[in-house]
Amino acid sequence: MGEQSGMLRGEAIVAAEELEAPVTIGAQAYISPEYARAERDRLWRKTWLQAGRLEDIAEVGDYITYDILDDSIVIVRSGADRVQAHYNVCPHRGRRLIDTPPGARNARGKKMRFVCGFHSWSFDLQGRCVHVPERDHWQGVLTDDSTRLGAVRCETWGGWVWINMDPDAEPLRTYLEPAATLLAPFQLENMRCRWRKWIIFDCNWKVALEAFDETYHVPGTHPEFMAFGDFPGWARNQGLHSNIGYDAPKAMDENQQAKLRIGTGDARISTAEMQVFTWEAANTNTTRTLVDAALRLKDELPEGTPSGEVLQHWLKSARAVDEARGVFWPVVEPSHNAKAGTAWQIFPNFQIGHAVNNMLCYQARPYRYDPDKCIFEASVYELYPEGEAPETEWEYTPPEAWPPVLQQDFANMAAVQQGMKNGGFRGTQPNPYRERAIPSLHYNLAKYMGTGAPQKLG
Ligand code: FES
Ligand SMILES: [Fe+2]
Repeated sequence: MGEQSGMLRGEAIVAAEELEAPVTIGAQAYISPEYARAERDRLWRKTWLQAGRLEDIAEVGDYITYDILDDSIVIVRSGADRVQAHYNVCPHRGRRLIDTPPGARNARGKKMRFVCGFHSWSFDLQGRCVHVPERDHWQGVLTDDSTRLGAVRCETWGGWVWINMDPDAEPLRTYLEPAATLLAPFQLENMRCRWRKWIIFDCNWKVALEAFDETYHVPGTHPEFMAFGDFPGWARNQGLHSNIGYDAPKAMDENQQAKLRIGTGDARISTAEMQVFTWEAANTNTTRTLVDAALRLKDELPEGTPSGEVLQHWLKSARAVDEARGVFWPVVEPSHNAKAGTAWQIFPNFQIGHAVNNMLCYQARPYRYDPDKCIFEASVYELYPEGEAPETEWEYTPPEAWPPVLQQDFANMAAVQQGMKNGGFRGTQPNPYRERAIPSLHYNLAKYMGTGAPQKLG
């Protein structure tokens, strides 16, 4: 990054323990074409990336592809208990082995052999070349090694397949800590997708993610939610990652309570209203079972029931309904909830919004090398009775077809990207308490990129 990193010379660089201090972050990481190009080698080819859900490759031969800039990777279930990743390129003359159907986010299918469309070299699920037409013309020099598909590191956690193009990368589980340990009780691997949508935005991938990694924007962007009560949120640096959550209201050790907005007034009514609104306007962060149980509260509880009791009753009743249909929520201690928060930002580009019975995930990737564009994806999960999870696919969805609450978030993105390019913009000044996930991301990005570390403010 030569010239770029020179910009930082002599300036104070914030250390991890100082991420609670007010900082400013320059616009370079969001708008610089040089920075966007450098991300390929310094970031995307070095980090663990969430590349797909294991249930999408449930049977031997099932495969999906994952693309990040120039790199395309095939992820295949090569055995009952084995998932492998190969570079999606034919070693003969470099044709991409598996094409993405026009308009699709990625390829998905089932094959026992991958046959290149150019000259029919063939590969097994392990990536070994099993057929080269007219092989003897190579005079015996082709080897298993020279003809096999390139291997990509591939490990699983939380029900996802993760890939890393750096052969020397640390193991996934180490990389994911402390997120992996703090999220373990939520048993995310048991969740199945309810819907998943993607879109190409006119903003940098960091702008898209940072629209979702803080709660400070709720009053300004989603004023409707304020009718259900105001619960200030926190954000914490967690090494490479970060998490966010809510301050426990009224000394209650219930992080999820604020997420669910058991609010002011008649909690029976506000809970039901909030649940219906969330279901209809966001279609995330709740389930039909929770909504229906909330609607029953006014019949099941007397007026004046304290909000803590309303919450307990509501969750108990929803849990019982789900158990009767074979859906079992894991039990997570309130003290653990307080530590786990409500969402994790997994470095560099994945967010997991976890709960015991549902999950909302966001991912953003660069679109080509354009710093002003990104591929944005959202997926919503819940627990289903065995064998009853719906079949879903990634749907390309224009902004107006997303849930209205997400449209409110989207409305900020291109405007932020545009604003950051304004000659009068002097760098962001994130809220040190509620928006700390942002300095955390840039502190860690700077370690990979060699530039762009947050600077002390004031
Ligand atoms: S490029 Fe694949 S077989 Fe020739
Ligand atoms: Fe939002």
